[in-house]
Amino acid sequence: MSIQSNQSNNQLPDRPCARQSKNATEPSFAIAPGAQEIDPKAVAADLIARFGPTAMDPRVTQLIPGFDAPFYQAGLAGYSDAAMRIIARRHGAPVCVTEALLDRTLLAGGKGFAKADLGELHDNVPGGAEDMPLIGQIMGNDPAEMAAGAIKMIEQGKRSAKEYRTMVDSGIGELRSDGSGTFAAIDINLACPVKKISKKSRGGHWLKEPQGAVAILQAVRDALPESIPVTVKMRRAYDDTPEMKRNFEYLFDACYDLGCAWVTVHGRTVEQKYIGPSKWQPLKELVEKHPDRLIFGSGDIWDVNQIFRMIAYTGLTGVSVARGCIGNPWIFKQARAMLAGDDPKPPTIAQQREVLEQHFDLALAVNANTRDPELMTAKNMRKFGIKFAAHHPQADEVKKQFIYVKTLDEWRVVLKKFYTP
Ligand SMILES: Cc1cc2nc3c(=O)[nH]c(=O)nc-3n(C[C@H](O)[C@H](O)[C@H](O)COP(=O)(O)O)c2cc1C
Repeated sequence: MSIQSNQSNNQLPDRPCARQSKNATEPSFAIAPGAQEIDPKAVAADLIARFGPTAMDPRVTQLIPGFDAPFYQAGLAGYSDAAMRIIARRHGAPVCVTEALLDRTLLAGGKGFAKADLGELHDNVPGGAEDMPLIGQIMGNDPAEMAAGAIKMIEQGKRSAKEYRTMVDSGIGELRSDGSGTFAAIDINLACPVKKISKKSRGGHWLKEPQGAVAILQAVRDALPESIPVTVKMRRAYDDTPEMKRNFEYLFDACYDLGCAWVTVHGRTVEQKYIGPSKWQPLKELVEKHPDRLIFGSGDIWDVNQIFRMIAYTGLTGVSVARGCIGNPWIFKQARAMLAGDDPKPPTIAQQREVLEQHFDLALAVNANTRDPELMTAKNMRKFGIKFAAHHPQADEVKKQFIYVKTLDEWRVVLKKFYTP
């Protein structure tokens, strides 16, 4: 089957770019020569022909029943709380990942830790039956704390905080959980580039010291029941030196040797943070070298077409959708439409309004136990509103109005003014 582009019937209007910050550049295509010529609809049809209705390698669905499409919503610190996840699921995201949660935050019950760039405990609490299957992501620098944190997450804290703490002191050899709760899998973050986190908790900085990361992978894998998949998020290297390439290969192989189910590889280096395009070629080479492994990819999935182009270009099992789904849950609906052989459609004003209302309500529920839930929610929703505004015909004006929202009433005023069809 040809996967060359037939642009006319699957092209979506360009979405205005995300905000530029010192840690990120404007959305751009990944470095992947020829990928933009790939016809995403043909790729979707090809996946259905190969794998049946899920378009997904059956080994993945076996590990996480419900993982029934070749994409998932990535962990996004500061965004991917239960509210965002439920909205994504209502639009077709089969699986979501929590924000990276520090092992120590988990063990301390979330108290006494600055939010930094990482999620707080309440943001990562599963959002009930609608928020499944959910992958809990952890990050840290001590194997015993990571293992105890993973156990606490999987067990949903059924033991006392003291008991989990004692587990750490007893040493990794003794750490075992036979229980399972809401989380479908545990994802270990070896990708986060943030410096203040990396010093304490490593994230992507483990790629400079892969043996330390191996100890963590081993401790977490050993501590959890076999029925709970352990997965890993990694960058394609720390930087572009040959030494760091070797480190990546060593750590990547170790993940599978130690029994991790899959690795999601972000096509940027740690040093690169979120600046500049990702590279898909190294991911393609990885798949060519390890055709039997389950491997997911991440980087520059800005619209639905890129989901399928990345899969076709690289041969990956599936992709994680990250910045491309902030304020854009429709990307999942569009991807499902493509799998069904239909043309993806941009959201109508009425659909946008419905999501804006639902997202605010869900966020209020997530923040119910904070000191001022409405203020907290309005503050948090501003950044989503700014992204959602990109779909509106008066994007700039709507964005400006969302920036000033401080209460639910003010949120409703913007909706009434701009989202009444
Ligand atoms: C604000 C922000 C927060 C992120 N937080 C996490 C996180 O908690 N866990 C994680 O695995 N990746 C995190 N990432 C990385 C994304 O999941 C993804 O790998 C990266 O953004 C590349 O994909 P993109 O270019 O399509 O956005 C974060 C990225 C951003 C921009």
